[in-house]
Amino acid sequence: MTATGSSRTTPADITAAAIASFESCADPRLRRLMQSLVRHLHAFAVETSLTEGEWRELIAVLTATGDITDERRQEFILWSDALGLSMLVDALAHELPPGATESTVLGPFYVPGSPLREYGESMVVESGAGIPAWVYGRVLDTDGARIAGAELDVWQNGADMLYAVQRPEAEEDHLRGRYLTRDDGTYAFIAVRPVPYPIPDDGPVGRMLAATGRHPWRPAHIHMIVRAPGYKTVTTHVFDATSRYLDRDTVFAVKPSLLRDFVERSPEDPERPAGVEGEWVSLENDIVLAPGEDGGAVVDPGRTA
Ligand SMILES: [Fe+2]
Repeated sequence: MTATGSSRTTPADITAAAIASFESCADPRLRRLMQSLVRHLHAFAVETSLTEGEWRELIAVLTATGDITDERRQEFILWSDALGLSMLVDALAHELPPGATESTVLGPFYVPGSPLREYGESMVVESGAGIPAWVYGRVLDTDGARIAGAELDVWQNGADMLYAVQRPEAEEDHLRGRYLTRDDGTYAFIAVRPVPYPIPDDGPVGRMLAATGRHPWRPAHIHMIVRAPGYKTVTTHVFDATSRYLDRDTVFAVKPSLLRDFVERSPEDPERPAGVEGEWVSLENDIVLAPGEDGGAVVDPGRTA
C-alpha cells in the first residue's frame, strides 16, 4: 500500500480485505467456507453491477424468508430447492455405484416418526384420498441379493395435492408410514396415486417464481427413505412416468432412473388387495442399496405449511 493520500480504494481491495479477515480462523474448513462465500458473493455483485436498490431488495427478501418460516413452513429449504442447490448438494454427497437407486431431494414435507406398519397395510387414514395404489417390490443389494429387514419410510400427497402436514385438521399419520422388508426382501403397502402439486408459492419463493416467469409445479411422486444396516441410506422418490412436469420440475429433482409405471387395474382384477374397492393401480418398484455405512439420521427440516 502506498503512503500517499492519492491512492484510491478499489472494489478488489475491499474483496481482498474481507477475504483476509478470515485468515486467523482456527477451523480450516470454516475458514475455507467463509472465504469462498465472500469471494463468490463479491464476484456476483461485481458481475451484475449490483445496485444499492437491488441490495436492499435482497435484504428484504431474506427478512421475509425468515418471517414466514416456522416449525411448519421452511422457506429456506424452498429457496434451496427452487435454485437447484438442494439437488447439487445431494449429488455431491451421494456418489453411488452403478445400479444403486439414485437419490433425490428430501423436500420440505418429511415428518419423522411415522408409524411402523405391517406388510401390505394401508397408509391411507382419511377417505377420499385418491385412487388406491398397491405399491410393491424388493430391496436388493448391488449384487441382486435380497435385503431382509430394510426399512422404507414413505410419505406422499393425496388427490387434494396436499401432504397431511400442510393441513392442520388432517389425521397426523395420513399417507405416511414405515414398512420393513420380509425375509425374502419384499415389501408392499397400499397408498394412493400421487398427483402433481405446486410448492407453497404464497411467500418470497413464490414471488420470485412469478417475477421470473417460472411455475411452482412438481411432477407426481411418492417419497421414500430406505435404510438397512450395512448399507447407505437413500432418500429418493418414485415418479409417475406419465405425470405432467417431469421435464420441468421446479426443484430439478427428476432423474430418469426413478420413473415408474402406475398400472391401471380393474375392480374385477383377482389381484385386487383386500380393502381396495373400485379402480386401482399397482406400482412395482425395486430399491437397490449401495454397501456402506448408514448415512445417518435424516436432519429434520421442520414441518412446512
Ligand atoms: Fe413431494
